Amino acid sequence: MHLSKRLTKRPTKRWIKWAAGANFLVAACALFAADPAVITIASKNLFPESITSTADGAIIIGSYGTSTVWRIPPGENNAAKWIDSSNSKGALLGVLADEKSGRLLVCQAGVKTFDLKTGAAKEELAIPTANPFCNDLAVRDDGSLYVTDTTGAKIFMFAKGATTPFATTAVEVASDPLLAGADGLAFLSDPDKLYVNSVTSSKLLRLDLAKDGKVTKITDLKLSRPLQGPDGMRPIDGKRLSQTIAITTTDGSLGERGTVLDALPDMLESTGAQVVYAAAGRSTLRAIADICLERQIPSQMAVEEQMSCGTGMCFTCTVPVIRKDGSGFDHLRACTEGPVFNPARILWDRWMGDEPRVVATPPEGFPVVRTWPG
Ligand code: FES
Repeated sequence: MHLSKRLTKRPTKRWIKWAAGANFLVAACALFAADPAVITIASKNLFPESITSTADGAIIIGSYGTSTVWRIPPGENNAAKWIDSSNSKGALLGVLADEKSGRLLVCQAGVKTFDLKTGAAKEELAIPTANPFCNDLAVRDDGSLYVTDTTGAKIFMFAKGATTPFATTAVEVASDPLLAGADGLAFLSDPDKLYVNSVTSSKLLRLDLAKDGKVTKITDLKLSRPLQGPDGMRPIDGKRLSQTIAITTTDGSLGERGTVLDALPDMLESTGAQVVYAAAGRSTLRAIADICLERQIPSQMAVEEQMSCGTGMCFTCTVPVIRKDGSGFDHLRACTEGPVFNPARILWDRWMGDEPRVVATPPEGFPVVRTWPG
């Protein structure tokens, strides 16, 4: 089946539900769970394919059916047609508001850019391949722009431009059978890792990027549950993506026989995890801290201390934690100042009982810990 047919038959970005065949379309926007407002878009054959928003609360919707872009101003419920691109060649697919460059980026064969405030047409960016099928876009923190070419099984990159936000012609940075059907793409907190899904194979891939923007490695990520025809993909909240689960029990009654320490190194390797959150007793936390330190992975640890009062009065739950400036350490109360700490700042030997509880701070102070979360 030709891909464009597939696109018309499958549900689009799932934030919008719509009633086909009506003279106008009522889109239920679930972007803000606490706000059940219904957005009305007075258009036939709209087929909302992609959605984006700006920090002021404006919502922008790309219409595959009419090759137009609609905008809902902050706090309003009625969409107005903002950009008409129906005279241009190619399907209008992904839209992305890039506030850093002040541009609305629109996939339509290549990429069209518009002023994010006024909607005025700006640059036309070309993808140097026959019949490019630009489907979605993501901007790296260095200002370069990445797009998927769904039918070409490729990723293209527009470098940051000298006089305009982006170079006007893309370079191919990846071409691989794994990229067949490449659709949504997104960066999380690590700008050297680009996540790409495939609408045809339902894969989720991690692409390692070199400084020059080229893809150096493609990893087919193991998923804890299958995807079905994934489409647009955007990072949310803490920009973390959880996709794998491993279960271990010491008696093997569930999952693998073993402990979290047996599973953790392989899991870090296979998922490329960027952070570790742990909750356990002291000895397990220390072992996890050592694993994270060895791999230079930041972590946060929720300690399990005995708590007599739970209100900060009795000091039975203290953890020796180095001050941010390294000038000494404090016995922080897990009940009121924790229970989550940065393991790089915990004085493990003292806490584990290998050192006397009262020792002087070295004259030169403790090393200053600069890893997140500070
Ligand atoms: S339990 Fe008493 S101070 Fe924390």
